[in-house]
Amino acid sequence: MTKVSASLLACNVLEVAKKVELLEGAGVDYIHIDIMDGSYVENLTYGPSFINDLKSITKVPIEVHLELYSPEKYIESFANAGTDRLIVQRDSCVNPLRVLRKIKEFNMQAGVALNPGDDIGMLKHLLPYIDFIVIMSVEPGFGGQPFEASCFEKIIELKEIMQRNGLSCPIFVDGGIDRINAEQLVSVGVDTLIIGTSLFDTPNIVKTLYQFQKIRPVESVK
Ligand code: DX5
Ligand code: ZN
Repeated sequence: MTKVSASLLACNVLEVAKKVELLEGAGVDYIHIDIMDGSYVENLTYGPSFINDLKSITKVPIEVHLELYSPEKYIESFANAGTDRLIVQRDSCVNPLRVLRKIKEFNMQAGVALNPGDDIGMLKHLLPYIDFIVIMSVEPGFGGQPFEASCFEKIIELKEIMQRNGLSCPIFVDGGIDRINAEQLVSVGVDTLIIGTSLFDTPNIVKTLYQFQKIRPVESVK
């Protein structure tokens, strides 16, 4: 099964509890929460108390994506709120190794995200210290943006680097995912799809989730 992390940015806030319950019943792998402070990106979303509230209604693991500057300031409060894994933007970290160490100290899995314009080289020395890599297929800040196909080149380059260095780290993709590019992403070895609009803007979220989760790499289709 392909893993799906449901991005709540695309969910009407008044429907969060209902949609999370449906997704949990349908076996969603993660709930993805984008935290934006209006500075790193021109948008505002939630704070740690939102994670606390979610933890009281679901057992689905919570993935927090910090799209803000100075992520080190927020690691403790999101850990205390019940975050299971934390994603930081590589270009928001002045001292990325220190940030990663702090995330691990708080017993969370650590993910690092690269923007469409970021070079893989920004990540290379961090690979042994991270649990998963997030390739952004849109600029951070908003849901519903068009998918950047340049991410494929980056994914392939990343896989080559890992292979050469005997490393293995799951690759996630975030932004603009639909059924067509999802199949291509899974076929190039993407582990987890982070999906907002294509999941929440459908009449039957349970059926749509299943359709994404059942995607298999094209090579293995008989
Ligand atoms: C963008 C966010 C994404 C976004 C994905 O800043 O990191 O998680 O919510 O949503 P869609 O699938 O609508 O692009
Ligand atoms: Zn995100």
